[in-house]
Amino acid sequence: MSTPTASVAERALSKQTSKDLLFQPVKLGRYNLPHRIVMAPLTRSRARQPGNVPTLLNACYYAQRTSAALIVTEATQVSMQGQGYAWTPGIHSREQVDGWKLVTDAVHDAGGLIFLQIWHVGRISHPALQPDQMLPVAPSAIKPSGEAFIENENGEPAMVPFVTPRALQIEEMPYLVRQYTRGAKNALSAGFDGVEIHGANGYLINQFIDSSTNRRGDAYGGQIENRARLLMEVVETASEVWDSDRVGVRLSPLGTFNDVGDDHPEETFGYVARKLSDYNLAYLHVVNPAAAAVEKRAEPEPRVKRMLQLIREKYRGKLMLCGGFDHESAEAWLGQGKADLIAFGRKSIANPDLPERFRRHAPLNQDDPSTYYGGGAKGYTDYPTLAQDRGEQPKPCVDERWR
Ligand SMILES: Cc1cc2nc3c(=O)[nH]c(=O)nc-3n(C[C@H](O)[C@H](O)[C@H](O)COP(=O)(O)O)c2cc1C
Repeated sequence: MSTPTASVAERALSKQTSKDLLFQPVKLGRYNLPHRIVMAPLTRSRARQPGNVPTLLNACYYAQRTSAALIVTEATQVSMQGQGYAWTPGIHSREQVDGWKLVTDAVHDAGGLIFLQIWHVGRISHPALQPDQMLPVAPSAIKPSGEAFIENENGEPAMVPFVTPRALQIEEMPYLVRQYTRGAKNALSAGFDGVEIHGANGYLINQFIDSSTNRRGDAYGGQIENRARLLMEVVETASEVWDSDRVGVRLSPLGTFNDVGDDHPEETFGYVARKLSDYNLAYLHVVNPAAAAVEKRAEPEPRVKRMLQLIREKYRGKLMLCGGFDHESAEAWLGQGKADLIAFGRKSIANPDLPERFRRHAPLNQDDPSTYYGGGAKGYTDYPTLAQDRGEQPKPCVDERWR
């Protein structure tokens, strides 16, 4: 707010941004967020090896980004079986919990709020990443098209074709849910503020929900009530550990990433969104099916628009959207009531001070995809802030080797 002593520039800035909906506070479960800019979950494959343990370098990366109203961490496997990419962190060993404590402490010291994204990849894995080189598991034994990201015998990253996964037996399902229970409990011990259940992007929960990957004839397949059962069981177990108002869920309706698809997406995701409303969650996070159109400033296809309307209508709670947004489009979508919060992925990678850049209408750094996965500080903790551009020295990060 301007005061009599505020400079002309400050008053101009506050006037310019006073209508910005992105900067309106919002309540998310029990948390009061000062604005609506969220850091999206982003896999960076920089956990220490062996053991997939978070490090001080990871802590520094997240601490740099605490001006986001909420940080959702990179996807984090709840079990060894749940891993699908080289060097991603886990939340199933004591060492990993201790590693994550470095992260949550650094984030809290810097005044941030952080949820852990809990993850099981299902069939999007490879024996090279599985305990004892076993087959990855899935709702049904259907091989995904594409390749897995592994570490080869020389310790280098390599892409290898996916294999046909093993279909989970019904007797295993309670134990599968318990992998999430342990992950949720460990997240609590590690000092997080909540968890986001990864139900999107073609991983295990999404493989159960979508008809193309679920051909089961038991209580977890067939009608949508059954295909959504695993998600609801995971929501229930996470809510027992955390209280539901500190649990979020991420979904990707109409998504095709990782070779998934659904025959009746309106029925499927309409049901899931409505059913999730019963749990009083912190939020529902939707990977924007209109991302490509938003990015190109084009009109989304009618089916995509209908899906977004359907989710908004069926889900009675806070809705976060992510995908393709910049400052202007995020404002427009909030203004049209299509979402309550906007998460930013690639822009959060390249701009540790994204909210400040938006507030000042400052130019953004461009992300470098060649440093997304693996490596050290380069392309991770060395993107400059506006303060650095003005000559301030950044807080140094410890560039621990990740293996
Ligand atoms: C390098 C990279 C890693 C990602 N990792 C995850 C992840 O771990 N979990 C997840 O749900 N989505 C992940 N995503 C998807 C993002 O959260 C987001 O949905 C996507 O980048 C689109 O948003 P944007 O247009 O703002 O970048 C990842 C995206 C990128 C570019």
